[in-house]
Amino acid sequence: MTGGMTDNVILVGFMGAGKSSVGRILAARLGRCFVETDEMITAKEGRPIPEIFAEQGEARFRALEDEAVRLLALKRGDVIATGGGLPCRGGRLEALRAIGTVVWLSGDFATLYERALRGGDRPMLHGRTREQAEALYEARKSFYSRADLAVDTTTLNPDQVAAEVQKALRGWARPPQHWPPHPTLSPSGGEGTLS
Ligand code: S3P
Repeated sequence: MTGGMTDNVILVGFMGAGKSSVGRILAARLGRCFVETDEMITAKEGRPIPEIFAEQGEARFRALEDEAVRLLALKRGDVIATGGGLPCRGGRLEALRAIGTVVWLSGDFATLYERALRGGDRPMLHGRTREQAEALYEARKSFYSRADLAVDTTTLNPDQVAAEVQKALRGWARPPQHWPPHPTLSPSGGEGTLS
């Protein structure tokens, strides 16, 4: 893959980074389809994510994410928004990099946290203090930082972020790949006790 039209563009980042709104704008501008892993999961399960967490727990949700990641391997040229915790377990970031250009929508914790609290029901913030949410954010950064590209969203609106992603993609030439095209996903090595 060379970053051309067959390459997916995959957005990762913490809750509140704007992956869905930026992804939708970006897909429209690039004339590509927009896919969301959270939507794939809710469509398959026929119920919203907070219900999956409440009834079957986080482990079940993460297993559904594994399945979504496997299905993403069939995508070509799409813009894909991932859930905030999706790349944060063993092998997942690498699996995403094998099927496209991974862009980390970053930002400072206070800004992302405020946005996340304002924008809908997020089970990962249930029963977590602000300090605990910040610890989760810090732990996840080491996963996100393995993305191909990063755009800091802290002071930008979704339109501006989409423009920055486009700019970053234009300057991006994927280096030769050293990883296998379909790496084996390891169920371990995730956030462990943090999630
Ligand atoms: C999660 C983030 C959510 C969703 C699920 C778990 C997480 O997506 O996938 O609630 O672990 O951070 P957003 O990042 O779009 O909020």
